[in-house]
Amino acid sequence: MEFLLDSANPEEIKQAWNMGVIAGITTNPSLVAKEGRGFHQLLEELIEIVDGPISAEVIALDTTGMLTEARELAAMHPHIVVKIPMTEDGLKAVKILSAEGIKTNVTLIFSAVQALLAARAGATYVSPFLGRLDDIGENGLLLLDDICEIFGVHGLETKVIAASIRNPVHVTEAARLGADYATVPFKVLRQLFKHPLTEAGIDKFLADWQKLK
Ligand code: E4P
Repeated sequence: MEFLLDSANPEEIKQAWNMGVIAGITTNPSLVAKEGRGFHQLLEELIEIVDGPISAEVIALDTTGMLTEARELAAMHPHIVVKIPMTEDGLKAVKILSAEGIKTNVTLIFSAVQALLAARAGATYVSPFLGRLDDIGENGLLLLDDICEIFGVHGLETKVIAASIRNPVHVTEAARLGADYATVPFKVLRQLFKHPLTEAGIDKFLADWQKLK
C-alpha cells in the first residue's frame, strides 16, 4: 500500500512530500475552499511540489459539464487525476474520459457495487470513504474488505484508495486488507511516525551516551 496526502494546503503538502513517504495527493472541493483562492492557481502551485498523482475534483453534476472541467484539469499536467462523484452522470463521464486516456478517481463510494460499477466504467481509482461510514454507525473497513476481495476475484485493474481516514488503525487495516493506497490527512500522517517506546528509546540511548563523558 502506498500513501497519499489528503490535503490542498501547500505548506502541509511540502512538509509531507519532504518526509519522503507520500506518492501523491488527493484534494476535494471542501479542502480547496479552505485555501481561499482560485482552484487552478492553487493546483499550479501543488503541481510544482508533488511529483505524483494529484486528484482534483469536478464541480459540475452533469456529464457534459464534468467532461469540460475534466479536460481542462487534465490538460494542466499529466499528474492530474480527475475526481468524479459516484453518480450515473459521473460514470458516463468516466467511460468517455477513460477512452481519452484521462485518469479518473471515482469518489464518494459507500458500497461495494458502486465500486464495481466505477471499475467497469473504466475508473483508474475508486475512493471508498471509511470514516464517513463509521460516522453514521456503519463499518468502513468492512466496505474496504468487500471491495478489495471483489476486485481481486475479478482481476480488476482499478486501484483502491482507502479514503476518509480518521486514525492510524484505519491505515493499518487498509494495508492489511490490500488497499492500493490510503489517503491520509496531515494530522494522521504525523501520528503514524510516532510510538511512545520509540521516543523513550531515543531518550534512554541519549542518556546512556551522556554517561560516557
Ligand atoms: C478523499 O479523497 C476525500 O478527499 C477525503 O478522504 C474525504 O475525507 P473526510 O471524510 O475526512 O472529509
